[in-house]
Amino acid sequence: MGAASNAHHTTSRRHGHQLILVTGGAGFIGSNFVLDWLATGNTPVVNLDRLTYAGNLHNLAAIKDDSRHVFVRGDIADRALVAALLQRYQPRAIVHFAAESHVDRSIHGPAEFIQTNLVGTFALLEEARAYWSGLPHAPREAFRFLHVSTDEVYGSLAAEDPAFSESTPYAPNSPYAASKAGSDHLVRAYHHTYGLPTVTTNCSNNYGPFQFPEKLIPLIILNAFRDKALPIYGDGRNVRDWLYVGDHCEGIRVALARGLSGETYNIGGRAERTNIDVVTAVCAIMDEHRPQNAPHSRLITYVKDRPGHDRRYAIDPGKIERELGWRPRQRFEDASGEYRTWVATNYGERNPA
Ligand SMILES: NC(=O)c1ccc[n+]([C@@H]2O[C@H](COP(=O)([O-])OP(=O)(O)OC[C@H]3O[C@@H](n4cnc5c(N)ncnc54)[C@H](O)[C@@H]3O)[C@@H](O)[C@H]2O)c1
Repeated sequence: MGAASNAHHTTSRRHGHQLILVTGGAGFIGSNFVLDWLATGNTPVVNLDRLTYAGNLHNLAAIKDDSRHVFVRGDIADRALVAALLQRYQPRAIVHFAAESHVDRSIHGPAEFIQTNLVGTFALLEEARAYWSGLPHAPREAFRFLHVSTDEVYGSLAAEDPAFSESTPYAPNSPYAASKAGSDHLVRAYHHTYGLPTVTTNCSNNYGPFQFPEKLIPLIILNAFRDKALPIYGDGRNVRDWLYVGDHCEGIRVALARGLSGETYNIGGRAERTNIDVVTAVCAIMDEHRPQNAPHSRLITYVKDRPGHDRRYAIDPGKIERELGWRPRQRFEDASGEYRTWVATNYGERNPA
């Protein structure tokens, strides 16, 4: 991936103050965002990704030869690299996905989370501020630093609590959530202190293509294909609010286009489901796909709960719906068609049981 250096020059000369810089665009949500961005518009993307275990260039195979996409392998904490990219490409916005994103990994090894999510975001903010301060008036006014964050910063809800709104106090419970909360606070401070035009989005659990199979849904699909145990933490009654990744990407595009500087927007699908309900739904799809192995629910195995496991997350997306006109398009129940295709593409031929 990535273009030859003269193509880089062409991209930077032709698209100054139009293109966007995406970080983490080889990961699950970032790659969906880049693909959707190029499918729905014509503005080029520079994609900075370190390609950790979670980044995969195969996610971007469909745009391998698309000159509107420039892939750069590198770390957001590498300030010299970030400064050089900003100067060379003169983006009109930064959309910041890059992060360590898996709660379980943050419990076993939090250091990477502090490094990328906090120190990395700090580095990116510093370089964004330096670049933005030097812009001429019009692109300076139009510039946006869009920070992609999570509902996990708000902590855990009891069954009867109202859903998280933008004014819910932060109460992160895992090292992952704390590192994301810290990055949200830095972004907020860069707006209030320096005037950097930031927008933060806090989203609920995503599902869809290209998710690394350490997260619940792809893990369950993969294990079901291999006739392996389907592990469920605790009593399986933890509730998450599920959103199709394409709807999240559209929410980010809308927040980038119309979101007000300094604002935060919660993005969610109004689809609260217990983990056991999600796993049972996936098993039902697998039963259709592979009736010879049905019922896949026989593989469900309850395992010792995750330490500090948040009981319930729920997002109130009312603000982005009212103020920016965004709505989720995909209902959780309708996503099975999407999953059938995804299962067939990812595991169908390559991983016969
Ligand atoms: N997955 C979800 O359900 C969800 C929900 C809400 C918010 N988010 C947030 O959305 C963003 C993307 O999440 P995801 O699920 O796509 O994550 P992911 O783990 O699938 O992808 C992260 C990407 O960032 C890259 N990366 C990691 N460290 C980097 C570094 N130091 N420099 C450059 N690139 C680096 C990785 O290579 C990978 O491509 C994260 O900020 C996450 O906190 C995720």
